[in-house]
Amino acid sequence: MSIAVDAAKLAGQILREMLESASSWTKAPKDLVTEADLAAQAAIEKRILSEFPTHFFLGEENATPQESWDAVSKKEFCWVVDPLDGTVNYVHRLPNFAVSIALMYNNQCVLGVVFDPMANELFTAIQGNGAQLNGKPIHTSSVTRLEDAMVAVSFPPQVHRESIEIKQFIEVLLASQSVRRLGSAALNLCYVANGRLDAYWANSLKPWDVAAGAIIAQEASANLTGLGGNPFDPWSGEVLATSTLTLWQELQHTLEDISMQ
Ligand code: IPD
Ligand code: CA
Ligand code: CA
Repeated sequence: MSIAVDAAKLAGQILREMLESASSWTKAPKDLVTEADLAAQAAIEKRILSEFPTHFFLGEENATPQESWDAVSKKEFCWVVDPLDGTVNYVHRLPNFAVSIALMYNNQCVLGVVFDPMANELFTAIQGNGAQLNGKPIHTSSVTRLEDAMVAVSFPPQVHRESIEIKQFIEVLLASQSVRRLGSAALNLCYVANGRLDAYWANSLKPWDVAAGAIIAQEASANLTGLGGNPFDPWSGEVLATSTLTLWQELQHTLEDISMQ
C-alpha cells in the first residue's frame, strides 16, 4: 500500500503541475489523451516496477490489447492503472479527475488507491480491512429508496441516441432524486464509498476505470455487482454499486426493465 500511495501521489503531483500546459489530442472521436496522462503513467510504472519487477503492469496508456486480457487476468500479480481518470474534465480544467491504482492477485482485486490531487483526497482499501479517505474509515450512505438517491452514471466517449445507456439514463433520471455524469468512474465509486453518491452504474468501462474504485466501494460496504445480477468482473465493463441492498434491488429492476424492452 505504501508503494501504491507513493506512486499515486507522484502521479497526482504531475497532473497538478501540467494542468495548465499539457497538450491534448484525440485517441478516437471524443476520447482525449494528454501529455499528462503519459507522464503520470510513466511515473507510476517506474515506481511500482522498481519495487516489484516481476509483477505485470496494465496501464491504460500502453495497455495490452483486449484480446490478451484473458491471459493478463491469469497473472499472479497484476497492477491495473489509470494514470488520469477523467481526462476530458482535465482538459477543461474541471477539478474532477483522479489517479487510479489497483493490485490484482490471481484475478482478485486486493488493493485499491484513488487519489484526487486537486481536492487532496486519497481513497484507499485493502481487501478485508475496510476503506479509508485520508486515513479515516468511510462508509456508504443508508439511502434505501431510489426516489431519495443521488445516482451517477458513466457513458462511453461516443454514446449513441438509441443506446441502452441513454434509455437507462432517462428512466433512472425520472425515478431517482437526481442523476449526475461527473466524468470519472474511479471517483464515482469512491463517492458511493463515502456516501456523497448513493448509487452508480456503467455499461462500458475498462478495467483500469473500475478496479481500484470497486474494492474501495466494496470495503465501504457498497453492494457492488455487474449488471443483470452478474457478479462484479472488472474485465466486463459493467458495474452497479449502491449504498444498500434495497437500493440495489430497486435500481437493478429499473435497469433490467430497460434491457428487456
Ligand atoms: C473515462 C472516465 C469516464 C467514463 C469513460 C472513461 P478516461 O476514463 O472514467 O467517467 O465515462 O468511459 O473512458 O478516459 O478519462 O480515463
Ligand atoms: Ca479512465
Ligand atoms: Ca485515463
